[in-house]
Amino acid sequence: SKVTLDCSKVKSFIGDDELTSMKDIAENAKKVLVEKTGAGNDFLGWIDLPIDYDKEEFERIKKAAQKIQSDSEVLIVIGIGGSYLGARAAIEFLRHGFYNNVSKEIRKTPEIYYAGNSISPSYLKALLDVVGDRDFSVNIISKSGTTTEPAIAFRVFREKLEKKYGKEGAAERIYATTDKSKGALKGLATAEGYESFVVPDDVGGRFSVLTAVGLLPIAVSGADIDQLMAGAASGRERALNSQFEDNDAMKYAAIRNILLRKGKSVEIVANYEPSLHYVGEWWKQLYGESEGKDNKGIFPAAVDLTTDLHSMGQFIQDGSRIMFETVINVEETDAKIEISKEAEDLDGLNYLAGKDMDFVNKSAMNGTILAHTDGNVPNIIVNVPKQNEFYLGELFYMFEFACGVSGYILGVNPFNQPGVESYKKNMFALLGKPGFEDLTAQLLKRL
Ligand code: PA5
Repeated sequence: SKVTLDCSKVKSFIGDDELTSMKDIAENAKKVLVEKTGAGNDFLGWIDLPIDYDKEEFERIKKAAQKIQSDSEVLIVIGIGGSYLGARAAIEFLRHGFYNNVSKEIRKTPEIYYAGNSISPSYLKALLDVVGDRDFSVNIISKSGTTTEPAIAFRVFREKLEKKYGKEGAAERIYATTDKSKGALKGLATAEGYESFVVPDDVGGRFSVLTAVGLLPIAVSGADIDQLMAGAASGRERALNSQFEDNDAMKYAAIRNILLRKGKSVEIVANYEPSLHYVGEWWKQLYGESEGKDNKGIFPAAVDLTTDLHSMGQFIQDGSRIMFETVINVEETDAKIEISKEAEDLDGLNYLAGKDMDFVNKSAMNGTILAHTDGNVPNIIVNVPKQNEFYLGELFYMFEFACGVSGYILGVNPFNQPGVESYKKNMFALLGKPGFEDLTAQLLKRL
């Protein structure tokens, strides 16, 4: 089995002729992508990453993970955006649903917390309390090595480490994932002797989950990174070499662009497993940063169901008809909870007695897919056989490849993110960073 796309619930929204014409456009976009002739073509290192990665570094990642597992009760992963979301998505998808809260006997590996993904002092203070006096290590992840959010968090945790272990002891507990030669973090890592891992030049943040950016924290959590890469390699093989009719990445890219051209400008990724929440967050960044530019793009949103059926469900069923939905369906779960029979059926649930709870969850999903489709919301379904490393690797790759193709269909450069600079410039000016003096005066007048 494998990760598969089910397009049966979009059929009624799309004519065969539309699919035929979009197929040609998508094949052309794929050619531009794989022949590396399009915009952003110096950021295509992710295409071959599952088969062509630094094997020596991969072994070093596993060794570092073992060291962290043996000498730390807690790992703090510091990073934001593409330097954060992939690792968190994978760890939550693959490991215990209450990873940090469950007993050490069940978890077996260090607690993992994330920092530098906001500038909130309350969050950081609370996290320092959680670490307390326990042994911990830090993985600071920043491709540019200069991003403000992680840099501030790293200063705070570096100080804590140095107080506890001394400068040299701290250096043995800091792992820096950054550019191979540029940036403030690289300079610091070299000066202080931190073990370093590389974010390749040709892999952008949102495509970096299968580099050390994602792999080190994922390995520390106890997940199998060999299987993750094997799944991605299978996804790559299918995306590159299958005919359009059997090529799920290509069909996904084509269908979402047909729907966009028919006025569906919002895509909602939906899951029925809380542990997929961060897969939705990772996907939102991937598509939002890749496509949302030049005043174009599909707005990527995500919902956790059935939770959000009791809030956003109303809008999806019945509000502005601007969206389509992509449901990530985990086909099989190991968690079995059978609904029991009670002598007195006071809660009226005896009609479900003997049924597995997953049957109820799947019935809710299938009922919702039909209701939303009836409500004029096309549904694409992505079937994931099980939550394991292999299928997650396939899923990551399918979405990444489809994103590159889809961006070229849309006519944008899917691999840059010029829009994220505007807030930074204003923030630096308001903070009085040297070099921003003129803008500071202008902005202060406007506030
Ligand atoms: O995709 C992107 O480029 C961003 O989300 C970055 O990953 C994010 O801003 C973090 O950047 P850096 O890794 O340079 O600290």
